[in-house]
Amino acid sequence: MSTQTASVAEKKPTGGGPREFLSITDSRTGKVYELPIENGTVKALDLRQIKTGPEDFGLMTYDPAFMNTASCKSRITFIDGDKGILRYRGYPIDQLAEHSNYLEVAYLILNGELPNLAQYAAWADEITHHTMVHENIKDLMAGFRYDAHPMGMLVSTIGALSTFYPEAKHVHDPAVRRDQIVRLIAKIPTLAAFAYRHSQGLPYVYPENDLSYAGNFLQMMFKIGNYKVDPVLEQAMDVLFILHADHEQNCSTSAMRGIGSSEVDPYSAAAGAVGALYGPLHGGANEAVLRMLREIGSKDKIPQFIKECKESGGDVRLMGFGHRVYKNYDPRAKIIKKMADQVFEVTGRNPLLDIALELERIALSDEYFVKRKLYPNVDFYSGLIYQAMKFPVDMYPVLFAIGRMSGWLAQWQEMIQDKDQKIARPRQVYLGEGERPFVPMTSRK
Ligand code: CMC
Repeated sequence: MSTQTASVAEKKPTGGGPREFLSITDSRTGKVYELPIENGTVKALDLRQIKTGPEDFGLMTYDPAFMNTASCKSRITFIDGDKGILRYRGYPIDQLAEHSNYLEVAYLILNGELPNLAQYAAWADEITHHTMVHENIKDLMAGFRYDAHPMGMLVSTIGALSTFYPEAKHVHDPAVRRDQIVRLIAKIPTLAAFAYRHSQGLPYVYPENDLSYAGNFLQMMFKIGNYKVDPVLEQAMDVLFILHADHEQNCSTSAMRGIGSSEVDPYSAAAGAVGALYGPLHGGANEAVLRMLREIGSKDKIPQFIKECKESGGDVRLMGFGHRVYKNYDPRAKIIKKMADQVFEVTGRNPLLDIALELERIALSDEYFVKRKLYPNVDFYSGLIYQAMKFPVDMYPVLFAIGRMSGWLAQWQEMIQDKDQKIARPRQVYLGEGERPFVPMTSRK
């Protein structure tokens, strides 16, 4: 068979520096193709020209769960999973956790640069003055059963916000976009706290403008009588929001981008993102960790539990361990583990911590976990802090959602402004029946 070169390489610009190509030989036709490599990727659409004949659709990639597909170009968050590095807009997560605060980080993630004094003051003021929700939201909340999961309530009420702000559908108007971004970041703590108070049968507590973002959230959650926000817990809450603010193209962020790509309003897209976060393999994992630690109950039961994890073929998992991207200690888990001591000084030591520490010690020296590079992730220790702060287990994924809102919105905004993006619409490999005639019900076996 003769070897021909037919390729997008022919389209390469004359002049400029040398470019890199991937050469592909199609064994079916003997043709050789050269696909340009840019930023360590080849364009999936460049494969389409690889055909066996004019009737052939062209080659596609098969990549369930997007294990090796970049769905976008982004300038927001950098992760090196092998080295355990996480940076927002270039700033290492540990420096942000130590020196910044959540609202400043949200500004950074959304705008690309840290705010100066005046920018920060205006941003914080704006968020603070949009924390109220329409009174009708309370009626909506009242419709839920007393034991409704707060994530279900959050999905619904965030989605419902789109009906209060119909102009939000003008997603290509930067000013409209900005208004909704402010509203969503400002209102999600209020919705979260209302959901909790509903489940407790407690009266809702309105936002207080002279408190910080985290401090205001804590008072809306826990205020009874003359409750005062503890500064150590306020700081811990703020750091936890920072650590959860963004994590590039994870499941819920991909949901936000995917839903947003239909140009629906950001409330509807964010409701979908909250839904994705609810799952036990994503934001629901911190809740699952706590349930797991309680179930294990005491240190002497740990070896048996580890044995079950190893022998179950993946059915029983050590929750809070493992990550699609991190094949090293999750840098967020390191910060949380350190912070736990400060929190426990105020709240008293969480007895489940000893089980968690022992689980970590055993797992990190066990060949099964070592070989698979399973390390503690952000959820392994966060639940212990939340529990010590008196959050019920149901609220853990809600806390994740509050912090992640700024990341979802930054990613959504980036997607809307990206000329390369279109409505998300993956292809499939169809393996079902070929055409066949309809069989009337009476003739079916
Ligand atoms: N406990 C026991 N075995 C595990 C675990 C675990 N936590 N995680 C992965 N494995 C095993 C899995 O059984 C498989 O083994 P084998 O090769 O023998 O089939 C191997 O490790 C690879 O696992 P995988 O499921 O193919 O890996 P993944 O990249 O698809 O999954 C994960 C990543 C986070 C879903 C998974 O590690 C997991 O289920 N962890 C527990 C849940 C959890 O903590 N999730 C929070 C993630 S961090 C917060 C967030 O981003 O939402």
